[in-house]
Amino acid sequence: MVTASAPGKVYLFGEHAVVYGEPAVPCAVELRASVTVRRRESGLRVQAGDLTLEEFTVEYDGEESGRPDVDVPDTLVEAGMGYINEAVTQAKDAAGVDCGFDIEIESEIPLGAGLGSSAAVAVATIDAATRELGVELSREELAERAYQVEYEVQNGEASRADTYCCTMGGAVRVEGDDCQPIEAPDLPFVIGYDGGAGDTGALVSGVRELRSEYDFAADTISAIGDLVRRGEQALAAGDIDEIGKLMDFNHGLLSALGVSSRSLDAMVWAARDANALGAKLTGAGGGGCIVALDQTRETETALQFTPGCEETFRAGLSTTGVTHEAE
Ligand code: MEV
Repeated sequence: MVTASAPGKVYLFGEHAVVYGEPAVPCAVELRASVTVRRRESGLRVQAGDLTLEEFTVEYDGEESGRPDVDVPDTLVEAGMGYINEAVTQAKDAAGVDCGFDIEIESEIPLGAGLGSSAAVAVATIDAATRELGVELSREELAERAYQVEYEVQNGEASRADTYCCTMGGAVRVEGDDCQPIEAPDLPFVIGYDGGAGDTGALVSGVRELRSEYDFAADTISAIGDLVRRGEQALAAGDIDEIGKLMDFNHGLLSALGVSSRSLDAMVWAARDANALGAKLTGAGGGGCIVALDQTRETETALQFTPGCEETFRAGLSTTGVTHEAE
């Protein structure tokens, strides 16, 4: 039996545009998904608990093709199972072994909410399952195989950003297949969560359609790339005020691409009214989380009183990427 864990992430800048080769800067945060794997003869039994901040439990047992019995939306569970099945396939391929697994997932990262739950689960599952089969992969190979998981589940529309960040920890820069850890100042992240989720595949497809229909949507994606390059300069200079301004701008551009929602906009505006340095949705959008920068308690307090915001909390930068927890 082996346990591995990996952190979630927020996007400081660049989600969606990164799918088209623009740079992005995700940052790992101190919320983790922990995966325990035990080899068995054949089949897959997955038990998952605490998959949202509300701590309701998703439990399902069954063969790979079985239908889990759960109390969350089907699409989320199907997507979740897709990531786990693909991660297991990658692990067996890396180890050159055909077998089954018992898998137990404990996660502090809400599902489909823009905090990298699928990437963290994919990375930790591949790490734990390969170790269980006696193989230790480099972090680079883990990140690459976890990317293949997202690529398969998201119908070929995925970037390396989420999986590389959850593998390495800290702040990273991703542009196409060029992925690197970068230095970042201590960023005072505040998260607002609307209790909901977005369908990453559908949101990415929606942006692709806009991009092919309208030149100005394609220009919006290029503008996000320009913004990220300015953001990198601000990060290098430790200029948190400028980082906040660019986050605000990034949210506006994502909103123009149709991936925000009423509750995400409400939380972003609550943060702005509370004098946050900046605020934006994080991840695919459609619902889920915003990330704001605020050293004071004002944004958290404002979010607590914002209709549509179910949870608010601070999440520090996690410098620890995927970690082998126990045998
Ligand atoms: C989802 O967390 C981030 C997107 O940019 C998709 C991806 O990069 O694979 C929307």
